[in-house]
Amino acid sequence: MSARLPARLLVTGGAGFIGSAFVRRVLDRHPDVSVTVLDKLTYAGNLANLAEVEGDPRFTFVQGDIADAEVVDGMAADVDAIVNFAAESHVDRSIEEPDAFIRTDVYGTFVLLEAARRHGHERYLQISTDEVYGNVPTGSSTEADPLHPRSPYSASKSGGDLLVGAYFTTYGLPTLLTRASNNFGPHQYPEKVVPLFITNAIDDEPLPLYGDGLQVRDWLYVDDHCDALEVVLERGEPGMTYNVGGGNEITNIDLTRRVLELLGKPMTLVRRVEDRAGHDRRYSVDCSRLRALGWEPAHSFEDALRATVDWYRDREDWWRPLKSGEYRAYYARQYGARLEAGTTIT
Ligand code: NAD
Ligand code: TYD
Repeated sequence: MSARLPARLLVTGGAGFIGSAFVRRVLDRHPDVSVTVLDKLTYAGNLANLAEVEGDPRFTFVQGDIADAEVVDGMAADVDAIVNFAAESHVDRSIEEPDAFIRTDVYGTFVLLEAARRHGHERYLQISTDEVYGNVPTGSSTEADPLHPRSPYSASKSGGDLLVGAYFTTYGLPTLLTRASNNFGPHQYPEKVVPLFITNAIDDEPLPLYGDGLQVRDWLYVDDHCDALEVVLERGEPGMTYNVGGGNEITNIDLTRRVLELLGKPMTLVRRVEDRAGHDRRYSVDCSRLRALGWEPAHSFEDALRATVDWYRDREDWWRPLKSGEYRAYYARQYGARLEAGTTIT
């Protein structure tokens, strides 16, 4: 076990929600570590997420695609480890248009693994999701469970996970793989349910709740996730997979109620709308393996959700520009007809 972070990190997808939180955290806590971000700046990538570290001499940003082998290989030559956050990450978009998910989440992962192998990296950390285990009606998934992805998103993430395992077994690349539950927190693009519902509620716009709203997700505060990633990079065993869960399993309707309560808005804003195709009812992960490394979430769900709501209330300058242009077209495609046919909750 290395018990320290590799000195030079290549963080892919570092302009997104979780990747940028990780970059800000590592530069803040590890004066001896340098970070290069490679990010394509898709609709979900945002340089404003990295404004805090912009002038730091240990920080470099490169705009580019993880599926571009030439760019990746050149950058991999100058680092000790890759931490891969880059992905197409939204289930609803994967249902609409799966192509980019396969290209980035499967092929892009392969390109990164190849570069890590060629340059003899100390570590390769792949950030994955509990969605690869599929629907979990009872109990909790352990890392030994088989993968049963049911959406194009989770299938493409599973493809990446399997390649990571193959590179450890076949080439001895010192890989690490984490599978986290649903994240929430500041800087999350307002297509995911928490920021979507907070920002819609601030504007007194309807909140489109899929189906009966009784689906269960385990909510993990983004800082607790980044904490876990640091522990895994420092003390994880090569070849291992680690589940990361917040221990906060609640139904979507309960989550919606809490968000509205924190904002002082009424439940009449909720619209029950047509369900997502193939919607997984529940995810749940067993995190004993990670806890044995000394990690546990440091934030209570209540405090973290309040902090998140407060952040969106304070940072309209961050999210308002995102809810324009491409987002409006996406929103109309995804929700227009559904909201018209939707019903209110009494
Ligand atoms: P995000 O959508 O906010 O950010 C993804 C980032 O990747 C963006 O900055 C985007 O520009 C970049 N990107 C996309 N395609 C790229 C490409 N081809 N080359 C380079 N950069 C590219 O996603 P997020 O929520 O921060 O998720 C980060 C990672 O964590 C993803 O791998 C995701 O699967 C995983 N994950 C997310 C959650 C969650 O709840 N958000 C939970 C578990 C795991
Ligand atoms: P989401 O934030 O898209 O994350 P994931 O699909 O990766 O779990 O959705 C979280 C839950 O919220 C999921 O059960 C789907 C539901 N949901 C809605 O009810 N309405 C919405 O508009 C969205 C985006 C999600």
